[in-house]
Amino acid sequence: MSKKAASPIGIFDSGIGGLTVAHAVKKLLPQEQLIYFGDTAHLPYGDKSTAAIQAYSIKICDVLLRQNCKLILIACNSASAAAFELVKEYVGSKAKVFNVIDPVVDYLREHHANKTVGLIGTKQTVNSNVYQKKVDDLGEGIQLKSLATPLLVPMIEEGFYKNQVSHSIIATYLGHEALAGVQSLILGCTHYPLIKEEIKQYYANQVEVIDSSEIVAKALKAYLEFNNLLNSEKLPDDRFLVSDYTKSFEHATKLFFRKEVELEKYPLWE
Ligand code: DGL
Repeated sequence: MSKKAASPIGIFDSGIGGLTVAHAVKKLLPQEQLIYFGDTAHLPYGDKSTAAIQAYSIKICDVLLRQNCKLILIACNSASAAAFELVKEYVGSKAKVFNVIDPVVDYLREHHANKTVGLIGTKQTVNSNVYQKKVDDLGEGIQLKSLATPLLVPMIEEGFYKNQVSHSIIATYLGHEALAGVQSLILGCTHYPLIKEEIKQYYANQVEVIDSSEIVAKALKAYLEFNNLLNSEKLPDDRFLVSDYTKSFEHATKLFFRKEVELEKYPLWE
């Protein structure tokens, strides 16, 4: 096995929502070491400017490159929309860079040609039109209907899900005319897997709910396999770095990673 194969996978997000993606990756690739970076000092990214998200993303990549990551996964739709191209250029040949949007667009090409597909996400993700551009480039006759749903992230972080409040907010958003007639719905934010079941119920299981975390994890595995970069050695434990620390962030990791993890404070700017 090459030295590179034994290097960790870096994953970053604006905070701890990207742990849903880290969880999916760990489930599929248990032998890999993950180094997760949550930019808790700057969350939420969803309503930040593109320039600010780009600056944070580059700083975080520096941290992950210093840890010799073989692959960097941008586990945040807002950062994928705002900073992927720049990050890819910056990282160059030092690591492979993945985002959470392209694997979903590939999935649409394979399974949803000529369909009407819905997208929900933060303002940054939806207003960037990145999904629309990529879907148009496919030329597969997919009609994309998008709606920014900015209340969902704070709602989930405050623990409001699977209750009356979340049912009512979800129903209001999904009932919006912008999403009328969709045959499937992309969860375009890494927080949303937590409300996937409620969304499925809203549609009485008649609409496929596309969870990018699982699709992205499969794409990563395929890439590592194809390039002989799967690890087979015993590696150190996963690490979870955050740019700002509070006890409540640590408690919330359980929501997103299914088990509580110990967070290490790692300021981006000293
Ligand atoms: N994780 C972010 C995303 O996927 C949402 C949270 C935020 O706004 O920072 O878009």
